[in-house]
Amino acid sequence: MFKQTPIEALVKIARFLDTTYDCLRDGYRTDRDDYTFTGDEIVFLSSSSMAPATDVPDGDLSSLPLAYQVEEVDEGAETLESISESIYQCHACPLGKTRSMAVPGEGSPHPKVLVIGEGPGAEEDASGRPFVGPAGQLLDKMLASIGLSREENCFIANVVKCRPPENRDPLPGEITACGAFLERQISILEPMAILCVGRVAATTLLKSSEGIGRLRGRFFGYRGIPLLATYHPSAILRDESLKRPVWEDLKLLRDKLAER
Ligand code: URA
Repeated sequence: MFKQTPIEALVKIARFLDTTYDCLRDGYRTDRDDYTFTGDEIVFLSSSSMAPATDVPDGDLSSLPLAYQVEEVDEGAETLESISESIYQCHACPLGKTRSMAVPGEGSPHPKVLVIGEGPGAEEDASGRPFVGPAGQLLDKMLASIGLSREENCFIANVVKCRPPENRDPLPGEITACGAFLERQISILEPMAILCVGRVAATTLLKSSEGIGRLRGRFFGYRGIPLLATYHPSAILRDESLKRPVWEDLKLLRDKLAER
């Protein structure tokens, strides 16, 4: 018969309770240090979470499976404006039919930070500008808290440039069809850092299937650019308890920018 010590059983129960708590709270598992118990003490076995920088292979969107034909581009002649023009003309996926306006992105052409969201919502679809609804207003406040703004030193873009109907998650084929636009924007913008807000942006750029609760709070590399993920501002609007981890993430970003 499989036997375990009382300590092993205790650790299993504690992990189960942690996971249950995380899932009930925000649906995500939190990245915790591994721990065990000795007598009445908790002993942490490693300090894997919140590492200041993690060496993972640089991501890039080019190896995603192609579901839609994307136009070939002469990158030499490219500008932010010409990319926006291609986005306005794009009908590579079905979102091109249902959108009111495509939303290429906006901000400083030489940004410290490129902020990447998921895709336009209703207000963005109507105005052609990214993050202008309630989540956008919160995003502006988050950025301002560490001395950033879209007017001065950030560029704000999305993984997909056209609104998915009913604000559903963009489908893999839609993300692939739009991926080249974001890559081309990143090549021109050359930001000092990338901030992915929300699961869709983080998992797309990092090619990961982990939850945002596990991806946030530490730096990855995207083509040599430090990339940090945090919760989406609309998640914070639904759950105020996310404010604290987001503030921790913003401080990491502020410190990373100060190093460079
Ligand atoms: N949410 C996003 O992810 N992007 C926007 O532009 C607006 C809301």
